[in-house]
Amino acid sequence: MVTLIETKPVAHNHYLLTLHTDSTQSAPGQFINIKVNTTTDPLIRRPFSIFDHDASTLTIVVRVVGSGTQLIVNLKPGPIDCIGPFGKGFSLVAGKKALLVGGGVGNAPLYYLSKKLVALHTQVTYIYGARTASDIFLLDSFRELSNTMIVTTDDGSAGSKGNPVEAAKDIVAKNEFDIVYTCGPEIMMKRLTQELSHMNIEASLERYFGCGIGLCSGCAVATNQGYKRACIDGPVFDAHTVLWDAP
Ligand SMILES: Cc1cc2nc3c(=O)[nH]c(=O)nc-3n(C[C@H](O)[C@H](O)[C@H](O)COP(=O)(O)OP(=O)(O)OC[C@H]3O[C@@H](n4cnc5c(N)ncnc54)[C@H](O)[C@@H]3O)c2cc1C
Ligand code: FES
Repeated sequence: MVTLIETKPVAHNHYLLTLHTDSTQSAPGQFINIKVNTTTDPLIRRPFSIFDHDASTLTIVVRVVGSGTQLIVNLKPGPIDCIGPFGKGFSLVAGKKALLVGGGVGNAPLYYLSKKLVALHTQVTYIYGARTASDIFLLDSFRELSNTMIVTTDDGSAGSKGNPVEAAKDIVAKNEFDIVYTCGPEIMMKRLTQELSHMNIEASLERYFGCGIGLCSGCAVATNQGYKRACIDGPVFDAHTVLWDAP
């Protein structure tokens, strides 16, 4: 049984939803699947990465992009039809140096990841990319967990003007990292993988989910080991196995 406790705005068009859940176990990078309403429209559940999970409190950040996400942020506190956590999350490294590169709402799962890495004494260098300042959510929370924090916006309204891939190239040229984790627009993750071709990179991919449990193949990801399903083989993949240009 999952209960929606509260919904609060955290940036333009972005909301933090706090849920009470029976499930106390999850891994950063995993997602939950929400049935938007009790009617058949929309029929398909909507997947969201876990932003944070502590005991029975689980939070997600929802960016409103269409009817499903609009209905979700309009839900009143109370029971909510939500299943999960599902999927394969990020691998956790202890006592290492990690570079995390997030773009837009793709920053959401990287907060929970940062928290778990810090608990394992891994140093977090965080690059938070956004289109514009008003899209940035919960930056102070990310900052608290980060050894070094760099913010980039496409229009220069916060942090430095530019994109997170350029910032990642700069920082990698001056520092050693054991692993890179990324989540954001596919074009950003593709470019990051090309630019940092010598590094170990884990990327969380977004696909349209049909069933969300491995049955429909609607979420196919082309890899050098054949097609994989983002919902059960991912959403986190070794970025160098992904065939980014596959149709
Ligand atoms: C594993 C996973 C984790 C996700 N985590 C988050 C998260 O933490 N926070 C968050 O806000 N969103 C997340 N998403 C995306 C979220 O599921 C979609 O934005 C949502 O399902 C859209 O529903 P809608 O009915 O509002 O949009 P629709 O009306 O269905 O579509 C609106 C617009 O969004 C685009 N769109 C919708 N779904 C997707 C998708 N899966 N991939 C690419 N484009 C899409 C459509 O092309 C359209 O332009 C995640 C998706 C996946 C697969
Ligand atoms: S969404 Fe159906 S197999 Fe992944």
